[in-house]
Amino acid sequence: MPETESFFLRGLPFPSDTLSPAFGCGSIEAHYGQICRAHLDAMRIFRASYAELSSMSVRRILTGRALPRRDADAILWHAGALYAHELYFSSLTATPGGYPHPRRELAELISHDVGSFAELAYRLGEVAVGMRGVGFVYLLLGASGRLVIRSYRDYDCPMLAKETPLFCIDLWEHAYYTDHGAHPERAVDAFLSVLSWRAVEKRIYDK
Ligand SMILES: [Fe+2]
Repeated sequence: MPETESFFLRGLPFPSDTLSPAFGCGSIEAHYGQICRAHLDAMRIFRASYAELSSMSVRRILTGRALPRRDADAILWHAGALYAHELYFSSLTATPGGYPHPRRELAELISHDVGSFAELAYRLGEVAVGMRGVGFVYLLLGASGRLVIRSYRDYDCPMLAKETPLFCIDLWEHAYYTDHGAHPERAVDAFLSVLSWRAVEKRIYDK
């Protein structure tokens, strides 16, 4: 079982009612339990249908190489959804306040590249509000070592080998409308309020 699918089969890494008021129990359960499950089920069908996909990681699938031509678009769609949602949910912590801020190294990186945590939050919100359609806003560590904020439509993913995705904020309406209405900037603030900076640091420093 490839790792991304295993992530969803293990269940949420925190109780679904512990992110409120950022995200309510019902919206988390629908998001993770129904939407992610649908992508997982679709990918399992494709893996069962095409032997070449059976052990291929989601990351490998997302390179777009050696995919069955007939279903390549659908496979990329579901693989992109699984990739983005794993990054999203594995970035959240049920203990807001327990680890609310990045530690020194990452704090210095944010300070150097963006100015401050508040400025980072503002810029993420600005990109979120400016998005056309739905998708994700990513914070990436670029090849130069600088932080990069970039949005991706739908389930497109940043798969450039030299960029490290640090977290992504889900800006599909299913992720935030129930809790925050038509306010993507509030979804950004909500996400940051339950973001595990420890998870982010691991993606930079524990590679
Ligand atoms: Fe989502």
